[in-house]
Amino acid sequence: MRFLDLILLVITVSSCFLSEVCSSLLNGCDLFQGSWVYDESYPIYDSSKCPFVGGGFDCQGNGRPDNSYLKYRWSPSGCEIPRFDGQDFLKRYEGKSIMFVGDSLSHNQWRSFSCMLHAAVPNMNYTESAERGGMFYLNFTDYKVSLVFIRNVYLVDLVVENSERILKIDTISSGDAWKNADVAIFNTWHWWLHTGRLQAWDKIQEGNMTYKDLDRVVAFEKGLTTWSKWVGQNINHQTTQVYYLGISPVHYNGTEWGSPGRRTTCANQTEPIGGSVYPGGQISGQPVVQRVLSKMTSPVYLLDVTLLSQLRKDGHPSQYTNKEHKGLDCSHWCNAGVPDTWNHLFYASIALPNLC
Ligand SMILES: *[C@@H]1O[C@H](CO)[C@@H](O)[C@H](O)[C@H]1NC(C)=O
Ligand SMILES: *[C@@H]1O[C@H](CO)[C@@H](O)[C@H](O)[C@H]1NC(C)=O
Ligand SMILES: *[C@@H]1O[C@H](CO)[C@@H](O)[C@H](O)[C@H]1NC(C)=O
Ligand SMILES: *[C@@H]1O[C@H](CO)[C@@H](O)[C@H](O)[C@H]1NC(C)=O
Ligand SMILES: *[C@@H]1O[C@H](CO)[C@@H](O)[C@H](O)[C@H]1NC(C)=O
Repeated sequence: MRFLDLILLVITVSSCFLSEVCSSLLNGCDLFQGSWVYDESYPIYDSSKCPFVGGGFDCQGNGRPDNSYLKYRWSPSGCEIPRFDGQDFLKRYEGKSIMFVGDSLSHNQWRSFSCMLHAAVPNMNYTESAERGGMFYLNFTDYKVSLVFIRNVYLVDLVVENSERILKIDTISSGDAWKNADVAIFNTWHWWLHTGRLQAWDKIQEGNMTYKDLDRVVAFEKGLTTWSKWVGQNINHQTTQVYYLGISPVHYNGTEWGSPGRRTTCANQTEPIGGSVYPGGQISGQPVVQRVLSKMTSPVYLLDVTLLSQLRKDGHPSQYTNKEHKGLDCSHWCNAGVPDTWNHLFYASIALPNLC
């Protein structure tokens, strides 16, 4: 997009709120409805030059042979998003901290954004802290912009009592660190579904009731509601902008996108799904996210990335998740790749300030 177009775009943006959830509508154009178009100028950064890619997300480094998946740009149906300008972001957010709180999808997003900013000013100085208690910390010291990832897969409390792991879906006691952020981008979903060996709790507790198990989508709604109340009671909206990253989809079942092969997964997928419709439909948690966020009385911006990510069956690490152990990862995303678009849309919400 040319500079003049951007000016025109900015001055024609209308202020629109969807109840209190900040809108993604730009003159009626939804930034999260659109399709992927091939763009030779992509990706936004060269992953081999980024020190923050992350081993499991470094598909090219792990030997992924194809690279056209790097060359798709998200194109909303009725409008354009401003080009990603990392220097502009660094200047706007000088002295500020951006915090990503959630599961490994937040980790994916944090690493992507670190690479996007790093590529904008390649010689930028930075300090990095080793992981401590699930917290990862990066500071681009020339701009004093810090990017923090806090691993917290449920947002609500997970405690050990009498050697039992209890998921307390109505309390949040680890939120103090989140209040210090200038921008906080939250996400939780995947761990609510885990069963068997991957299930991280033995019991669910709500008030004085305990459950051996609950319908997982019901539990998610209760947990997310607890989070939404916590935001309302604890976040000062004058100093902290709150975002929620919509559900990130997996691609383990090719039947969803009409693949003829019975066992088709994301493996060997090299192209996105064309058009603006995911044949597999909505994810069960999506209406929950809509419902909980629309009841919030404090402003929160939904980065509604589910559909655009659903169309990217080609964007996962698949067999290239790790150099040594080639498992199959159709849940996380390659960096560079799809999370760059999540962050680009985050940037758009800032560069088009009347959206929120
Ligand atoms: C990095 O720090 C050095 C020493 O302070 C400074 O000369 C240089 O300009 C910095 N780099 C950038 C890109 O600001
Ligand atoms: C980031 O680094 C700058 C420069 O060293 C420092 O002044 C600032 O306090 C750091 N930011 C945070 C959040 O620690
Ligand atoms: C459980 O909590 C509810 C509401 O706080 C209370 O009315 C009830 O008496 C409690 N039940 C037990 C067994 O403590
Ligand atoms: C795969 O997706 C199809 C179509 O949505 C569905 O009918 C089927 O149950 C799914 N299979 C599994 C194992 O989840
Ligand atoms: C992916 O492609 C490789 C190389 O052509 C092949 O060996 C492998 O079986 C394919 N995997 C799947 C799941 O289709």
